[in-house]
Amino acid sequence: MISRPFKIGILASGRGSNLQAIIDSVERGDLDAEVAVILSNKENAQALERGKKHNIECVFVDPKTYPDKESFDCEMIRRLREKQVDLICLAGYMRILGAEFIATFQGKILNIHPSLLPAFPGLSPQQQALDSGAKTSGCTVHFVELAVDAGPIVLQSSVPVRDSDGVDELSQRILEQEHIIYPRAIKLFLENRLTISGRRVLIKDD
Ligand code: GRF
Repeated sequence: MISRPFKIGILASGRGSNLQAIIDSVERGDLDAEVAVILSNKENAQALERGKKHNIECVFVDPKTYPDKESFDCEMIRRLREKQVDLICLAGYMRILGAEFIATFQGKILNIHPSLLPAFPGLSPQQQALDSGAKTSGCTVHFVELAVDAGPIVLQSSVPVRDSDGVDELSQRILEQEHIIYPRAIKLFLENRLTISGRRVLIKDD
């Protein structure tokens, strides 16, 4: 058991609504944890503004100041280690993590993706769902592995795809579920109730 507060590091590149859902869950006391640091590769990410409002350390790490992807990742690793984070949450982080980063934090990185994986990985999953004619889509919280959008699945939530939906309508319906299942998955992680067994995540006392 960890005797100090459970520490979460969040990586985000954009709007930060999932990050906000995590912060709100912490502040409500639903998550017995603290957000120790927010890192972004985008200087103007709204996620950084949101974090600052809650007095969380927010850092823009500028990819242009590093000679290559590996050295950028090294700096991210250094900052997360410095904060002794127990879990890293990707929340709209739009860079692919390198092998060293993933190996360093093996089994401690979660991501949220706005589709029912393994359907519609990669970019524009809501558009992919509409184009496919699927009647149902949703979101997935999964552990992060080297292959993008492919790690063991922790939680999923489904939503209907309506005939009248455009990308905005479907994205909004999915996003509401993201804000519910991401904090829920984090809670399961910090309560030590998740075990990765092959491709499956076993949830204790589910
Ligand atoms: C979300 O749809 C998330 O599933 C995906 O990127 C989007 C980020 O949105 N990975 P936000 O920045 O959390 O508002």
